[in-house]
Amino acid sequence: MQTKAKGVSKTDFIVCMTDGSKPIQANLAQTPEIVCSLLERGGIIYFPETPFDISASDREFLLAQKQKDADYHKNIAYRPKEDIVTGYAAKTPVDAQRLHSIMADYHNQTTNFLRSFIAPYKRGWEPDFATFRPIEEKGRKMSLRKRNDLIHVDSFATRPIYGDRILRTFTNINPTENRVWRTSDTFESLLETYKNVMPAPAPFKSKNDGQSLLTRLYSMLGLKAVGTSPYDKYMLDFHNFLKENGFFQSNCRKDTWEFPPNSSWMVFTDMVSHSVLSGQYALEQTYIINQDDLVMPEKAPINLIAKAYNLK
Ligand code: SIN
Ligand code: FE
Repeated sequence: MQTKAKGVSKTDFIVCMTDGSKPIQANLAQTPEIVCSLLERGGIIYFPETPFDISASDREFLLAQKQKDADYHKNIAYRPKEDIVTGYAAKTPVDAQRLHSIMADYHNQTTNFLRSFIAPYKRGWEPDFATFRPIEEKGRKMSLRKRNDLIHVDSFATRPIYGDRILRTFTNINPTENRVWRTSDTFESLLETYKNVMPAPAPFKSKNDGQSLLTRLYSMLGLKAVGTSPYDKYMLDFHNFLKENGFFQSNCRKDTWEFPPNSSWMVFTDMVSHSVLSGQYALEQTYIINQDDLVMPEKAPINLIAKAYNLK
């Protein structure tokens, strides 16, 4: 996909399939269950014209902002549960307040939109961070495992999600430059290829068995959960394995996607293997989707892994 289609409206979207099949044209008349199934199969839902309203003055403000400690903080983040922004080098308290309100607004707008667009997920979903990504991705210096220009599937390194899913909604607010992604095969297909070279995971426990009393208490208080789970460890190992595998990076099948200024896209980044080649200034909102609400649970990484290693 290369260019922005002419005459598109805010209700039109394209499902870019990352398994090599043809893109599908659609619009908001599509039922939420079909949208969810396309996402779960590894589709990127792409809106050439963002459905979110971000005013010209808010965009201008964002384009002028700097991130604190770019090595330590990967992005500027808004944490909806705590209602705070981290990683932002504010020049004045007024700027800090303005950034906070723009990020909270992106969180609220995406939440309202997703509530109907992917309605089956709203029962058990957890809002995670909204991020602002002000750094140019091309040539960005990061340690190998943090590099986003290497193809990978996302995992949560420090906060366990026990098989729940990572759904991300991006908006390119750059006035002139595309955000350019590359994707390869889905997790489903990569797992088939690499299951014999990856160490098998320890048996999975259900979310409630797996969470210690302390972790549950933390989460009830809205605090960060600690530790990991066999599922989260496997997904993190898989993420690292792909980034460290030079043969895979050079030889895997690749598709390139260009997301133009003012477009939005949403994707299960634990299913779609991806990298970002270039682009600066994007907003993003993550939702953790409860595995019990999936419309195609057989495509969930936790169930694919359990099947691949005969864990159940
Ligand atoms: C990533 O999840 O790898 C980064 C995507 C982006 O910032 O465009
Ligand atoms: Fe990623």
